[in-house]
Amino acid sequence: MTISYSRCALGLSLLCGAVLLPAAAAQAPADPAVAHQAAAKTSISQNSDALTFANYLEVSVTHIALDLALDFAHQQIAGDAILSLDWHKPGHTLVLDSRGLNVSQISALDGDGHWSKASYHMGPNHPVMGEPLIIDFAATDVSRVKITYQASSTASGLQWLTPAQTQGKQAPFMFSQNQAIHARSWIPLQDTPAVRSTYEAKISAPEGINVVMSADRRKLSSTQTQFSMPQAIPAYLIAIAAGHLQFKAFDATSGVWAEPEILAQAHEEFEDTPAMIKVAAKRYGDYRWGRYDLLILPPSFPFGGMENPRLSFITPTVIAGDKSLVSLIAHELAHSWSGNLVTNASWRDLWLNEGFTTYVENRIMEDLYGRKRALMEQAIGYGELLAELPQLDDGDSVLHLDIGRRDPDDAFSSVPYVKGQLFLLFLEHKFGRERFDAFVKGYFNHFAFQSIDTASFRAYLKTHLLEAYPGIVGDAQVDDWIEGQGLPAFMTPPHSEAFTSVDEQRRAWLDGKLDAGQLQTRDWVVHQWLRFINEMPRLDLSHDKLAELDKAFDFSHTGNKEIAFSWYSLALDNQYYEVLPPLDAYLTQIGRRRLVVPLYQSLAESKQRAWAKAVYLKARAGYHPLTQSGLDRLFDIR
Ligand code: BES
Ligand code: ZN
Repeated sequence: MTISYSRCALGLSLLCGAVLLPAAAAQAPADPAVAHQAAAKTSISQNSDALTFANYLEVSVTHIALDLALDFAHQQIAGDAILSLDWHKPGHTLVLDSRGLNVSQISALDGDGHWSKASYHMGPNHPVMGEPLIIDFAATDVSRVKITYQASSTASGLQWLTPAQTQGKQAPFMFSQNQAIHARSWIPLQDTPAVRSTYEAKISAPEGINVVMSADRRKLSSTQTQFSMPQAIPAYLIAIAAGHLQFKAFDATSGVWAEPEILAQAHEEFEDTPAMIKVAAKRYGDYRWGRYDLLILPPSFPFGGMENPRLSFITPTVIAGDKSLVSLIAHELAHSWSGNLVTNASWRDLWLNEGFTTYVENRIMEDLYGRKRALMEQAIGYGELLAELPQLDDGDSVLHLDIGRRDPDDAFSSVPYVKGQLFLLFLEHKFGRERFDAFVKGYFNHFAFQSIDTASFRAYLKTHLLEAYPGIVGDAQVDDWIEGQGLPAFMTPPHSEAFTSVDEQRRAWLDGKLDAGQLQTRDWVVHQWLRFINEMPRLDLSHDKLAELDKAFDFSHTGNKEIAFSWYSLALDNQYYEVLPPLDAYLTQIGRRRLVVPLYQSLAESKQRAWAKAVYLKARAGYHPLTQSGLDRLFDIR
């Protein structure tokens, strides 16, 4: 793939600031107007994003001003979006991304300061991408465009919950999940990570509802809240949530938002957050986003977490009571460098976000909780990748993905995460920590507030590591990692000593040398239990053996959702259906995709398909649109 560098070589100098913006200019300016100009310089690379309709090489959006009202009764968001435009060449047409938006009026501000109506139409619907919103201006110097619209009540990027679906059961709740291409379902914009803009928002909501966004927050009145994000970010990082939310601080710059019923628990579980920020900033450079808060979502949140800037969205399924799953916080925090500061220019380059983040996450975990835990987590991730690889199409096991116009929600796997991390661990091992840490820190600084693709990374890697320390790693090896399928033959798998005894205990039990009750498990931590279960035989473990396990360790009633998931997977793979009653409760309580979809898939292929479909139909209303759409297909619904 050719990239921004080659455009620069072609002499399109206007567009070449993208890779050359000095880091100093990228510091967060207090004045949005200043950030605004910085944004214009950073936003362009060659159009390699097949998942946007936007003509962003001709004109880019540099600032978004939202004025929106939340209507819980109709589960709708509506109002105006004013987009500031930066024209790279004179033009009359602005093409935006949209999905299911009902646009009622569009006006344009020309160079003379006059607003006038603009003509527009929706192009044909694409099942994955939605509809292009095509706006035609009379003049060529339009600096702002104002779009009055209403999002659909079934917007793919929003979930609306009734009071009954919340912890407190008193107030409704709503939240967005924009990544990868759902921003367009509630805001008309250029929905590509190649474009970055600042944003501000005025949101009105009923009294008693607190609204939060991935931005600086100021409450104006009991029904209005004002937000400002002065740093230029891609559309997938715009985020909103509203509900009966309360805040509890960790310290002056960090805290947690949650429904009051789980606030204290969440605060305790994630109290190490400030320490995580500290170790990450020490290793990789200043945290550049001002505050870092967490928002605990209802259990239907479709992901583990989402790195919305200043406010990571977090599933409640990681509140285990013992901090055993806090690597998720380290992960979302790590995105403050890898992803939010240096962003993948298209979803083909997702590994630049997730592989770097998985690597940095693990370094944070090591700094804070020690090498033993970090290695266990590496080994678990590696195990998950090994289990997933055989199920993937060959093309999906490369880092530099070719997703075309497939739905990114279906095309992503653990490959960008774990294979990406393994590649960086390989480089760390080859060059040594000191050199590699300096390289990564330099990389974040060099590309701060820019969107880059895999080729830009490779060029930087070549000058700053491969050629700076010649003869250590060659281009061909890098090529194997990035463009090759599966894992390179020359890689060394992660190894955790802490799992050696776990593997021995499992073996002894499987061979009938020890009963479950005799196993030496007293000192095991959650990760060791996960290893114990995950490496059990699939298909031919007897029901007696599974019953013995559940009797000894009561996996069916564990409060740890990761252990529960591993246990149910094992049980279903071995057709052990004694677990169906507790599994029913589990599937109706949580909607995190990774924890429910594989279980439904396994059931749908078994003789329990009808049972699974019935549970799904019962649970469906509580699931997020994204979770629903995959499972609707699985069960042939609609
Ligand atoms: N940014 C991702 C979530 C995401 C990725 C949403 C791609 C949509 C498309 C987030 O940072 C993430 O990776 N979440 C993981 C947790 C992580 C610890 C592996 C998840 O949700 O499982
Ligand atoms: Zn991530």
